[in-house]
Amino acid sequence: MSWDTLIRPDLEPMRVYQPGLRGSEVRERSGMERVLKLSSNEYPAGPVPTALAAIREVAPHLNRYPDGSCRELRRRLKCHWGVDERFISVGNGSNELLRLMGQAVLRSGDEVVYAWPSFVVYPMVAAMFGATPVPVPLNACQAHDLDAMLAAVTDRTRLLFLCNPNNPTGTIYGQKAFERFMAAVPDHVLVVADEAYFEFVTDEDYANAADYFDGERPLAVARTFSKIYSLAGLRVGYAFMPAPLALAVDKLREPFNVNSVAQIAAAYSLDDQDEVLRRREENQEQKTYLYACFDRLGVRYVESHANFVYFMTERPVEVFEALLAEGVIARDFGNAPALRLGVGTPEDTALTIAAFEKVAARLGSI
Ligand SMILES: Cc1ncc(COP(=O)(O)O)c(C=O)c1O
Repeated sequence: MSWDTLIRPDLEPMRVYQPGLRGSEVRERSGMERVLKLSSNEYPAGPVPTALAAIREVAPHLNRYPDGSCRELRRRLKCHWGVDERFISVGNGSNELLRLMGQAVLRSGDEVVYAWPSFVVYPMVAAMFGATPVPVPLNACQAHDLDAMLAAVTDRTRLLFLCNPNNPTGTIYGQKAFERFMAAVPDHVLVVADEAYFEFVTDEDYANAADYFDGERPLAVARTFSKIYSLAGLRVGYAFMPAPLALAVDKLREPFNVNSVAQIAAAYSLDDQDEVLRRREENQEQKTYLYACFDRLGVRYVESHANFVYFMTERPVEVFEALLAEGVIARDFGNAPALRLGVGTPEDTALTIAAFEKVAARLGSI
């Protein structure tokens, strides 16, 4: 028996998703007590108190399977967003929904358009289902070039991912540009707006795709509880999508894809919007301190609408390692001349700034 003949040969060029370094890994390796994990765009504090209380309540009932249809969470999302439950799918992280939407629409030979650099999962979804990835470079401001993305659409394009704000650059596109884009994109293309970081955005021109969702046209909006709601470890995300697509996703998902702890924690997290607002404001404030530090040190960066900052460096490997030696875990992108840094608590920011100052002094520049 040969694994080469048994396993699909088209999986061969695919790479396994590489998460950022874990804090515990770095602590063990370096012996440092204090390590700042700023590599995965997580929120730096734990879940909101209403979610923690709900998690404790559900624990004694974990002998039961979860609600396979996430009824209560979908009902609460409906009340919160005013979007009918028929249009709401819940996933084991929004990542699962990105994949399931791909699985629902992609046939071998189809094309998947997405901006690049952006979330690495988009080309992975294309590859999983035998589709051709079509990356479209970001513009000079490191933002989506929606006109170029439109120009990349062909008769074979089936799926187009938008990432707003974009991971890793933190840039957004505005309402006019999005409206022009949606008016021009042909309806044989499913547009998936991935808004994993939208709760952090304060810019009023932000094009929130949910405002354009009508349940008819082929537009889906993916969101997550992993970021501002601090539930990354539980894996729960949701998406608004037209009912026929939601039905297809329902057919493809596992019977109990979202565990009961995640469902209840997500549902109760929605109750604490004061805390969401506070987190958004604190995130904004911390970014201004990071920018001031970068300005002082002459580091070029992209102003971010999310909870991470993309900064340029000619020697990413050296800078990454030097930050690590100071206990700061950034995110690297191989040899790309940039790194991404998550925004932490005020205390994290002070430690991060001190680390950057030390690294700049040691290396001469960043
Ligand atoms: C742009 C983007 N979309 C989706 C996800 C996946 O989030 P989830 O934890 O909901 O699967 C991430 C996670 O980092 C992300 O950056």
